[in-house]
Amino acid sequence: MKIAVLPGDGIGPEVTHEAVRVIEALGLGDIEMKHAPVGGAAYKAYGHPLPSETLEIARLSDGILFGAVGDPDCDSLERHLRPEQAILGLRKELTLFANLRPAKVFGGLENFSALRPEVAGAIDMVIVRELNGDVYFGEKGFRTTANGDREGYDIMSYSESEVRRIAHIGFRTAMGRAKRLCSVDKANVLETSQLWRDVVIEVAKEYPEVTLEHMYVDNAAMQLVRAPGKFDVVLTGNLFGDILSDQASMCVGSIGLLASASLGERQTAHGTFGLYEPIHGSAPDIAGQGLANPMATILSAAMLLRHSLGQAQAAERIEAAVAETLSDGVLGRDLGGNAGTTEIGDAVLARL
Ligand code: IPM
Ligand code: MG
Repeated sequence: MKIAVLPGDGIGPEVTHEAVRVIEALGLGDIEMKHAPVGGAAYKAYGHPLPSETLEIARLSDGILFGAVGDPDCDSLERHLRPEQAILGLRKELTLFANLRPAKVFGGLENFSALRPEVAGAIDMVIVRELNGDVYFGEKGFRTTANGDREGYDIMSYSESEVRRIAHIGFRTAMGRAKRLCSVDKANVLETSQLWRDVVIEVAKEYPEVTLEHMYVDNAAMQLVRAPGKFDVVLTGNLFGDILSDQASMCVGSIGLLASASLGERQTAHGTFGLYEPIHGSAPDIAGQGLANPMATILSAAMLLRHSLGQAQAAERIEAAVAETLSDGVLGRDLGGNAGTTEIGDAVLARL
């Protein structure tokens, strides 16, 4: 079993280190982990945020454990050299188009939600976000209009096939859960969204057991804080999914707790090839101080074991150890506690 470990920038290396310790502690046998640089770290060492050696190590693995990218030193570089291009490049180059972002409140942690505990306690959803298209990957640039006004532009588009393949993931995810799918778009304004909606309705015919609902993204943002417990699976595009998943994280309690899997169609010897990362960023303000909460990355490692390595039982063991650690009150600063990165890692290991 081959895992590519790409720690990246900021707190990425610290949180990834803890997740690696957790995987090692499981004693699953033949696991080979290869580390490679990405993001600002890779730019500084090799002049590119996604060096071809890193991409190859990622491509040849069964699953990728990814930390975070983003470095203020790199913010004024040309866009194609910025750290964020590493994650966007991996998603695109490896056709990892389906991003699963589960958001569930851990029992006993309802009080950490930004919402009232009785509202937060009901949260148990998965956001299925498309990752290879939308305004993220359309033509973009700067231009100057005839009267000298500077203009920036990013073209938003989705093709029918792109919507179809992510819609299938959304419906299949719903089939494995409470069979309710809410497709989020902005079809009252955007043609991209109108096509999205039309295609989702077509795909729905293949899943008669799933109850499909459509919601405009502004309303979805509101419902997410009003009654988040009503969502089961949320299916949405790249941009809306980016925003709603950060919002969902605070409904759960902390962005330091949310993991994600980015999957494509390629099968490996043990499961589906994928990339796993916490949904938080590189948090440069607290990097290198041992303060970051590694839970989201540890939970991402659990998803890697489940989806890419066929180790569902090991994944459940990790998730149970994380839940126990939290309910025992070992909390990072993001949750109002004072446990540091290593301490949280140690606490999870002790419970494993
Ligand atoms: C995420 C991040 C990325 C995104 C950035 C780092 C490019 O915010 O994974 O949600 O926008 O997709
Ligand atoms: Mg984001």
